[in-house]
This record gives sequence, structure tokens and C-alpha cells, in this order.
Amino acid sequence: MSCWKSFPAMCSLLLLFPLFLHSSLALVSAQGSNSTALWQTLSGNAPFVVARGGFSGLFPDSCGVAYNFAVMVSVPDVILWCDVQLTKDGVGICLPDLRLDNATDAPTILGTNRSSVYLVNGVRTKGLFTVDFNFKELENVSLIQGIYSRTNKFDGNEFVILTPQDVVNQFKPPGFWLNIQHDVFFTQHNVSMRNFVLSVSRSIIVNYISSPEVGFLRSIAARVPRTTKLILRVLGPTDTEITTNQTYASLLGNLTFIKTFASGILVPKTYIWPISNDGYIQPQTSLVSDAHKAQLEIFASDFFSDLPLSYNYSYDPVTEYLSYFDNGKFSVDGVLTDFPISPSSAIDCFAHLDKNAKSQAKPLVISNFGASGDFPACTDLAYSNAISDGVEVLDCPVQITKDGIPFCMSSINLIDTTTISQSPFINRSKKIPEISSNEGIFAFDLTWEEIQGLTPSILNPYSKFTLFRNPRFRNSGKFITLPDFLALAKNASTLSGVLIHIEHAAYLAKDQGLSVTDAVFGSLSKAGYDNQTALKVLIQSPDSAVLKRFKQENNSYELVYQVDMSIGDVLNTTVVDIKSFANSVTISKSSVFPENQLFLAGSTDVVKKLQALKLSVYVETFDNEFVSQAWDFFSDATVEINSYVLGANIDGVITSFPKTSARYKKNRCLTMKETPNYMSPVQPGSLLQLVTPDYLPPKTAPSPVLDDKDVAEPPLPPVLAKAPAPAVDSGPTASSPTSKPNGQPKLGAGAGILFLNLAILSIALLPF
Ligand SMILES: *[C@@H]1O[C@H](CO)[C@@H](O)[C@H](O)[C@H]1NC(C)=O
Ligand SMILES: *[C@@H]1O[C@H](CO)[C@@H](O)[C@H](O)[C@H]1NC(C)=O
Ligand SMILES: *[C@@H]1O[C@H](CO)[C@@H](O)[C@H](O)[C@H]1NC(C)=O
Ligand SMILES: *[C@@H]1O[C@H](CO)[C@@H](O)[C@H](O)[C@H]1NC(C)=O
Ligand SMILES: *[C@@H]1O[C@H](CO)[C@@H](O)[C@H](O)[C@H]1NC(C)=O
Ligand SMILES: *[C@@H]1O[C@H](CO)[C@@H](O)[C@H](O)[C@H]1NC(C)=O
Ligand SMILES: *[C@@H]1O[C@H](CO)[C@@H](O)[C@H](O)[C@H]1NC(C)=O
Ligand SMILES: *[C@@H]1O[C@H](CO)[C@@H](O)[C@H](O)[C@H]1NC(C)=O
Ligand SMILES: *[C@@H]1O[C@H](CO)[C@@H](O)[C@H](O)[C@H]1NC(C)=O
Ligand SMILES: *[C@@H]1O[C@H](CO)[C@@H](O)[C@H](O)[C@H]1NC(C)=O
Ligand SMILES: *[C@@H]1O[C@H](CO)[C@@H](O)[C@H](O)[C@H]1NC(C)=O
Ligand SMILES: *[C@@H]1O[C@H](CO)[C@@H](O)[C@H](O)[C@H]1NC(C)=O
Repeated sequence: MSCWKSFPAMCSLLLLFPLFLHSSLALVSAQGSNSTALWQTLSGNAPFVVARGGFSGLFPDSCGVAYNFAVMVSVPDVILWCDVQLTKDGVGICLPDLRLDNATDAPTILGTNRSSVYLVNGVRTKGLFTVDFNFKELENVSLIQGIYSRTNKFDGNEFVILTPQDVVNQFKPPGFWLNIQHDVFFTQHNVSMRNFVLSVSRSIIVNYISSPEVGFLRSIAARVPRTTKLILRVLGPTDTEITTNQTYASLLGNLTFIKTFASGILVPKTYIWPISNDGYIQPQTSLVSDAHKAQLEIFASDFFSDLPLSYNYSYDPVTEYLSYFDNGKFSVDGVLTDFPISPSSAIDCFAHLDKNAKSQAKPLVISNFGASGDFPACTDLAYSNAISDGVEVLDCPVQITKDGIPFCMSSINLIDTTTISQSPFINRSKKIPEISSNEGIFAFDLTWEEIQGLTPSILNPYSKFTLFRNPRFRNSGKFITLPDFLALAKNASTLSGVLIHIEHAAYLAKDQGLSVTDAVFGSLSKAGYDNQTALKVLIQSPDSAVLKRFKQENNSYELVYQVDMSIGDVLNTTVVDIKSFANSVTISKSSVFPENQLFLAGSTDVVKKLQALKLSVYVETFDNEFVSQAWDFFSDATVEINSYVLGANIDGVITSFPKTSARYKKNRCLTMKETPNYMSPVQPGSLLQLVTPDYLPPKTAPSPVLDDKDVAEPPLPPVLAKAPAPAVDSGPTASSPTSKPNGQPKLGAGAGILFLNLAILSIALLPF
């Protein structure tokens, strides 16, 4: 049987990764001879990765591609998980639910009029039950995506329903796990799960069998091969185990009893790290050590990188996994996951990393408004946390107050990043077409004293997906002046530089009489940045005129030109132009890997062309929230960063979550002779090749080519002499000769990034 019908030649999915061979040798060296000392699992070995229905986070649960892909991108001892259901004629199939409705096209193929209503553990349930059909009747039913927030673009592949024997014979998994969610139900319908399981475990090697039903496990305990381990799957604490009539909480109260018929337990992850109502991790329970004391293995379930994680993990799935097996106190024996690539890299590349491990990759880690993924942008908290998170270049977007004080704030419009719209200052709101088409309350209309009194407000760029950032700290922190920022940075021994971002300089000079360039010069020189070499100074601007002005003044600063639109290419003459006033260029992620409906469509030559003239290329903005990443990156920020670094050779990442990028640079998989697949860059465009024509997104026009006139700008206008003299000591206020300002209105950055279906709001939880 081919793994799917339409494109059997693609079964192996070799296209997806440039390195497709399993590098088990590299792994042996990675997990190391003395790894036993490291892991606090029951066996002392590394924890297992159990792939639920294969790589079900991306492909339809339990389909051949999902299983095959999980084997390809996971640790070499990955375990494939199959939820077994029985057909009317007693054939076991791998399917996530005992109804065909959700994860297959059965309603169309078989007709919904063949639905039944049955009691499932006492609950009336309607649907197309597998137990109503003979196996042969399901031959034309295909597996499709059953979770509405995940992409349905692979549904045209006619993935066939597989039996456990198919999975083992076709994909030769290193480990295999059968989950029997319902035994009582099938017994009531006169098919025997026990017979099926006992017979199948004589024909293939089954490493684990789990069930939430104690009676089932006890009934097979004496009959399964000794190499097969039985695991009690624990449901909610107040759910009743139907064969003993005890709640799972009370069953867990006697681990000795569980040990009489099982060698381990599988528990939802919150049994180990409970989560508060507001989404924060609470102190760990003693369950892992209790289980280990009772000589029971303990596996944790419910790892979904595409659901909101606890805020403690900053939307970084690798951090979450590490908290379950590299926390210094205990380690679970395995994790049940829909995204097996993430625990694989967590185990092999990141666990037990030395704090002082050396960097293994070049990208400069540049913050985006400090650690703005966790704290209000550009506050003292965002900055001090970025430093402790390991940022290398700390950024300050400079705004200037009415009284001429330069300070750091992510936007010139105070509404974007403070609670000012709920304050009496609302009467200072106005519309300035040169800056934005929307009304705003602008930094240059308030004094520094007034701005200091404002309450910061955390950025929530993904709020329309109901993904919010660190709510307990949403209004914490203080804004700081540029001189204070420079002092803070100078004091941090781990930084390699600061990035000062300048926008709207022409408008501020011409219309507000404020010279932001002079304020920056003055602050840098006063803070002693002119005479030192410890900290690099990067001046970034989307305006070439600003960079030219700096170039006249000081040659030791690195000048960074920000291309603030998505581009598909750049003319060679334009690169030469840019080279005349800049040392590096910041471009958007989509200018490297263009996307179509969240699938990578390919890659551009922009990075190569810029680097050919020795311009460094920084890329913005790397966020951890999974909705900000293409499907190709498997809802894992580390996979995205790695693909840009190894796949596109970029020189720096600009990120709201510097911790993730800083950790990425130290990962030990980068030093292995053969890079394991889970640390190989994804091949842009390859995932799209697995989409059948009927599901392909419409082709989109390529992004524009950056040309000379996009870059050309008149010099900065002179500073209008209407405002009071800047309170900050700055150089001479005189500026370049007269000329018209750059009249291009700049619309808010980052417009139109995402088109993910809003169905994510009504996310369908997994069918159990
Ligand atoms: C474990 O490995 C480290 C280096 O990775 C080495 O320094 C140490 O001696 C080893 N320990 C044992 C017990 O082999
Ligand atoms: C179900 O509906 C189809 C047409 O939609 C019909 O051909 C078939 O006979 C119906 N089957 C039953 C059992 O009602
Ligand atoms: C499946 O489809 C084939 C081809 O269309 C058809 O011959 C066969 O009868 C179908 N099987 C079932 C069970 O409907
Ligand atoms: C199962 O078999 C019993 C006895 O043979 C019969 O009474 C019962 O109706 C059957 N149940 C189902 C769901 O087929
Ligand atoms: C299970 O326990 C409940 C209350 O404790 C009782 O009402 C019910 O009859 C019991 N069921 C069985 C099958 O023992
Ligand atoms: C726990 O289970 C063991 C084994 O079944 C039994 O001997 C013991 O009495 C139970 N302990 C309690 C507190 O119920
Ligand atoms: C999770 O974050 C909250 C808020 O920062 C903190 O109070 C709590 O201690 C953290 N939980 C753990 C287990 O570190
Ligand atoms: C705004 O409101 C404050 C009082 O809330 C008042 O003192 C101030 O004059 C008003 N400013 C403008 C421009 O209307
Ligand atoms: C610099 O660091 C020292 C010690 O870490 C601290 O006492 C001092 O307050 C810091 N200064 C500034 C300006 O942050
Ligand atoms: C920095 O160097 C300039 C001359 O290059 C000198 O005038 C100034 O005093 C120096 N500042 C410091 C803080 O050393
Ligand atoms: C542009 O520059 C690249 C590398 O610098 C070179 O390979 C390419 O041929 C040039 N293209 C044109 C049209 O000159
Ligand atoms: C599964 O399908 C049924 C309809 O057959 C629907 O009511 C239910 O919500 C679906 N469950 C999930 C988890 O999508």
C-alpha cells in the first residue's frame, strides 16, 4: 500500500530537508557517553519523544506522511503513537477518535445518514462510528485535517487509513505505541480490543500500550510480551475511571496499586506543572518523583505548540519542554507531542547547555524594543531583561519630547505603547499626514515630565488571535531617556553594541523645530561613546538622509539602512547606492523568504546581493508567537531562526524575544559533524509541493524590486527655529543646506503580515 494515493513518489518527503539522511552517528556523540549522569529520568537515559499520530501538528493525524515525517525530523529513538479503533469486523486502525467524522472525509464518502447515536462512557454521542463499518468499506475514506486552526491544505492527498501493522511495516519506527482509549465501548459492540491487541503484538513489536481503562490493562497484563510496557493514561482528576469507579485523582493516590498492572503513567502536563487561571506556571507537584519512587515511568501529554503556552514560556515551545526534562530537579520519561521536532531539538541540542557555552552561529542578536515580547516595549524592564536574556545589541528607537529630551519609545505615537488614550491628554490627539493616516498623540507634543507620568502598555501584535503577552506585567516599567539608556548599556558587560533607531527626522526638524540627529549626537558623545571601542554604535534609519548626515559627522558608527517594505529583489545599482551611505541593511523576513498564505514560496537573492557588496544583513522581526511563523517552521521559533541563519546566511536577527535567539546560538547541534534534521534549515517552497493543485493558494504577485528612487532622499531640512532650545546638550543646531523634506508619508510598520484564519479563535480541542 502506498502511503498516499495521488503522489506516491513523494512519500519519502525527501524534498523538505536538504539533509534527509538520519544522522544517528551524530546523535550518539551528542547524547554522549556520560549522558546517564545528566538525565533525571527513571532509566537515566534521555526522555522519549512520542509523536501523537505522527507529526500531527502539521499533517492530518495518523496519515502516512505524518508518521514518515515524524521519523525523519525527530530523535533517532522516536516513538510513533497510534490511537487504535476497531471496525465492525474487528480490524484495528489508527485514528484519533472512535468516530470518523472529524479527521476523515467519511461524511462525504459514506453519507452522514449512516451516523449512529451511542453511549460512550455514559455520554450520548452521535457520529459515524468505526464500529459500524467493515474495514473494506473504509477503503475510499481519506484522512484529513480535523483541527480547524491547522492548515487543511494537505487534504487533497487522499491519505488512506492505516492499520498499526501498516505503520510499522512502512515506516519502521524505532519505537511504537498503541493507545487504547476505549475498550469497554468496543466490548459493548461485540468486537474485542483485547484479541486485536494480543494478536497484533505477536506480529509486530509494540513497545508501549496505554489506556485510561484499568480493567483493560489488567486483562492483558499477563499476556503481552515482556518487552511491551503498559501505561495507565490518566484523564482529568475528577473524571471517573470506568472500570474501577474511582476518580483518576484517587487512583493516583495509590501508585503501588498502579504498579501492579502497569509500568508507567501518562498524565496531562498540568499534573506536573500546574497552571494558574491567569496562565502562569505554579510550583511543581511531586508527581514525577513520587512516580519514580514507585518505579513507575511518567510521561507527560498535551504538548501543542500551536495553542497558547503558559506565559512563563514566552511562547517558546523549546523552553516548555526543557522545563519538563531539564529543570535540575526531575525529568519526565517522555513527552507526547503533536510537534516532535521541538522536543527532539530540546533534548539533543539544548538540554543541559552550559550557561557559558560558546556561540556556534554568527547572527547578531538585536533586540526589538528590548525584550518587548515579555515586557512593555522600551521600558527599563524590557531593557534589563533583554540584557539578562543574552541580547547582544540593545535597541533604542529615539523619540523626542516637546522640550527636546531624546528618549526611547517604540513609536512616535504615544497611543501605541502607553495608556494615554485613557488620560486627559486625549485632547492633544491630532492627525499628521506626514506621519500616519490615523490620529495620534505624539511624543513631541508632551514634555518629558508628562511622558514620565504615562503608564506603559505592553505591545500585543497578535491580539486578534487572542494571543497576549505577559499580562501580569502589561503596565509595568518606566520609560527612560536616551542618556539613561546609554548609561545602562555601557554598564552591561555582556552587550556588544547599541542600536539607535531614528525616524521622522525631517518632519521633526521642519515642522517641530526639533533636531533628533543632533540630540543623538550629543547624547552619544556626552555618554562617552565617541571615545570607546567596547560597544559598537549602530545608527538605523529608513531615511538615507539621516544616515548620510551621520556619515558626515562620525565614521566609527555602523550605519544601518532599514528597508521598511517587503521587497522581492534589489537592483545592483541600488545596492551600490546603499553602500555609499550604509554598512548594513535591515530587511523584513518576507524579503528573504516570500510567503503565500503562511507557506514559504521560495527565497529571494536579496541577502546574497547585499552581502556581495559586504553589507551585513539584519532581518526583522522574529517573534515567538506561532501565528507569526510560516507553517514550514512547525510553530517553533527556533526552527524559524535556524532556517534564516543556516538557510539564508543572515548576519543578524531583530527579535522581541532575545532569549530564544541567544539560546539558539549556543546550541550544541550546530557543532556536530552531521547536523541532525531537527537542526537543519527547512527548504523554502518544499512544503507547498505537498499541496495538491485543488488546494494550492492562488499565486501572488512578487514583492516590488527595491530601486534607486526608493532609496534616494533629499538631505535633511534645517531645524525650524520655533521651539525652545533642546534641554539636552547637543552639538550645533545648524543642519545641512535647505531642501524639501522627504514628503513620503510613512504608514505604520508591519501592516498586513498575517492572514491566518480567524477560526483559530474557536480552536477545536483534540477529540478525546
Ligand atoms: C562527561 O563529559 C565531560 C565533557 O563533556 C567530561 O569533562 C567529564 O569528565 C565526563 N564525565 C564522565 C563521568 O565521564
Ligand atoms: C443515504 O443517503 C444516500 C444519498 O444521499 C442514499 O443513496 C442512501 O440510500 C442513504 N442510505 C440510508 C441507509 O439511508
Ligand atoms: C472505492 O472506489 C473504487 C473506485 O471508485 C470502487 O470501485 C470501489 O467500489 C469503492 N469501494 C467502496 C467500498 O465503496
Ligand atoms: C452483541 O452480542 C450480543 C449477544 O450475542 C447481542 O445481544 C447484542 O445485541 C450485540 N450487540 C451489538 C451492539 O451488536
Ligand atoms: C460508582 O460510584 C457511584 C457513586 O460513588 C455509584 O453511584 C455508582 O453506582 C457506582 N457504579 C458502579 C458501576 O459501581
Ligand atoms: C494500594 O494498593 C496496594 C496494592 O493493590 C494495596 O495493597 C494497598 O492497600 C493500597 N493502599 C491504599 C492506601 O489503598
Ligand atoms: C511564572 O511566572 C510568574 C510571573 O512572572 C512567576 O511569579 C512564577 O514564579 C513563574 N513560575 C515558575 C514556576 O517559575
Ligand atoms: C486639555 O485638557 C486639559 C484639562 O484636562 C486642559 O487644561 C487643556 O487646556 C486642554 N488642552 C487643549 C489643547 O484643549
Ligand atoms: C551599573 O552596575 C552597577 C553594578 O552592577 C550598579 O550598581 C549601578 O547602579 C549600575 N549603573 C547604572 C547606571 O545602571
Ligand atoms: C573624547 O575624545 C575627545 C577628542 O577626541 C576629547 O575631547 C574628549 O574629552 C574625550 N572624552 C572622554 C570622555 O574621554
Ligand atoms: C548583480 O550583482 C551580482 C553579484 O554582485 C552579480 O552576480 C549579477 O550578475 C549582477 N547582476 C547584474 C544584472 O548586473
Ligand atoms: C467532531 O465532529 C462532530 C460532528 O460530527 C462535532 O460536533 C464535534 O464538535 C467535532 N469535534 C471536534 C473536536 O472537532
